[in-house]
Amino acid sequence: MQVFEATTSPRGAGDSGSPRDNVRRRFIQVLLGGGLLASAASFIYPVLRYLIPPAATDMGGDTVVAARVGELKPNTAKIFRFGSRPGLLILGADGEYRAMSATCTHLSCTVQYRSDLKQVWCACHNGTYDLAGRNVSGPPPRPLELFDVHVQGEEIVVRRKREA
Ligand code: FES
Repeated sequence: MQVFEATTSPRGAGDSGSPRDNVRRRFIQVLLGGGLLASAASFIYPVLRYLIPPAATDMGGDTVVAARVGELKPNTAKIFRFGSRPGLLILGADGEYRAMSATCTHLSCTVQYRSDLKQVWCACHNGTYDLAGRNVSGPPPRPLELFDVHVQGEEIVVRRKREA
């Protein structure tokens, strides 16, 4: 019968080895530690970004050309870009333009105009707003932000309402 015995290093377990071995060992420790740190950071960073969303930075001004005259038919709408957020321009069946934020006040999905309901609708959780931006059903807790609309020549200009 053959017996295998555990062999130890000729230097022994507690031996720190030559300076070259120490440098190599230290290098591997740093490499493994860095990899572990990078793995932890790649897991923690997205969690933190989800829990603490960045403050909304509106890169645009207070005024934007949302459409051109004649672009919309009555009882239709379009999404336009207002700074870093979407806006919703509606030409009602009554021929009146209305503009509001297209970001749902519930969980920030983009809302859309439902011409069949003559309401603004959020598909995410079936929230609805009336044409004045008021939340009328579903989970949205607040009205949509309303904008002023002016027809200037051939352009439909949307302007953020100023606080009094
Ligand atoms: S995000 Fe619009 S209803 Fe929930």
